[in-house]
Order: sequence, then C-alpha cells, then structure tokens
Amino acid sequence: MLFAFMSLTKVNRFLATEDDTLALGRSLAPLLEPGMVIHLRGDLGAGKTTLARGLLRGLGYEGRVKSPTFTLLEPYKFSRLNLYHFDFYRFLDPEELDDAGFREYFNPQSACLIEWPEKAPDLPPADLDITLDPAPEGRAVTLTAQTEIGRRCLDSLKT
Ligand SMILES: Nc1ncnc2c1ncn2[C@@H]1O[C@H](COP(=O)(O)OP(=O)(O)OP(=O)(O)O)[C@@H](O)[C@H]1O
Ligand SMILES: [Mg+2]
Repeated sequence: MLFAFMSLTKVNRFLATEDDTLALGRSLAPLLEPGMVIHLRGDLGAGKTTLARGLLRGLGYEGRVKSPTFTLLEPYKFSRLNLYHFDFYRFLDPEELDDAGFREYFNPQSACLIEWPEKAPDLPPADLDITLDPAPEGRAVTLTAQTEIGRRCLDSLKT
C-alpha cells in the first residue's frame, strides 16, 4: 500500500531530433505552474538548454535564449510567470547561492529551470526532474514527477 503512495509518475520519450526536444519544451510551457521547480539533468550537450529554449518559445519568448553557463542565471520576466533559467555547471562556492540572492528567485510567483542542479547543494527540491540521455542519434528523455504539482504536469502531458 505504501508502495502505491510512493509511486512516481514517469514519462519516457525518444527525441529523434533537436526539433523534438524543442517541441517537448513547448508542450511543457502551458503546464508550468507558478512556484514550480524543474531540474534538467544530463551530460554536457545533452540538450538541456535546447529544452529550455523550447519552453521559452512556448511561453511566447521570441528573443535569443542564451545559455546561462557564465552568468549562472538568465531571468525572463515577460509572461504570466517569472521564469528563471539557471545553469550551475560553474558553480563553485555553496555560499554563492545566498550571496547572490539566488534563493529569492525560488518563490510562489516564479518558475525555475535548473541545469546542473547536482552542482549546487541545498537547492529547493524539484517538482519535475527531466533527464536527457544522448543516444547515437537523438536523445532519450525521462520526466519524473517528484511532487503533486509535477504529477499534474505529467498527467496533462500524457493526455
Ligand atoms: N533530440 C536531439 N537529437 C539530436 N540532437 C539534439 C537533440 N536535442 C538537442 N540536440 C543538440 O544537442 C546539442 C545540445 O546542446 P544544449 O546546449 O542544449 O546542451 P546542454 O545539455 O544544455 O549542455 P550544457 O551542459 O553544456 O549546458 C545542440 O547542438 C542541439 O542541437
Ligand atoms: Mg546548457
């Protein structure tokens, strides 16, 4: 019984081309809820920023989507929610999270997309965890809901 309670909602897909990755991002855009945290996992070049770009396009952003590799954060305040795109690959100092005021970005009015969450300790837990795995051609992707919000999102994605 406990097992049924703990059961995770998972969605597996194969993304044959970059356009498929963008399309998945787009399809997530209308499902984003304020306060949501999404962790984007996968090795260098796996397609995390591509997915984030698709999501931003889906929210209506036409401009250039830069990788936040050096800035750690790109804020987007144009839509129904403030979207913050983080990349913690170069994150070195755990105190930076507090010093840079990053914690304030995790609030009920924002949605946060985080590349390389494993490099920053003590991040807010993810509602949705998305892992991209490079295949010889294309990418395998697994979306795992970790909270009720994440589950709602995946349920809508599946239908
Ligand atoms: N489904 C796919 N099939 C093939 N190529 C893809 C697919 N999705 C994305 N790509 C390509 O893979 C590369 C991924 O780059 P991207 O910057 O999105 O990776 P990343 O995971 O953000 O890497 P980093 O960790 O360096 O930030 C891009 O060149 C993109 O065109
Ligand atoms: Mg990236």
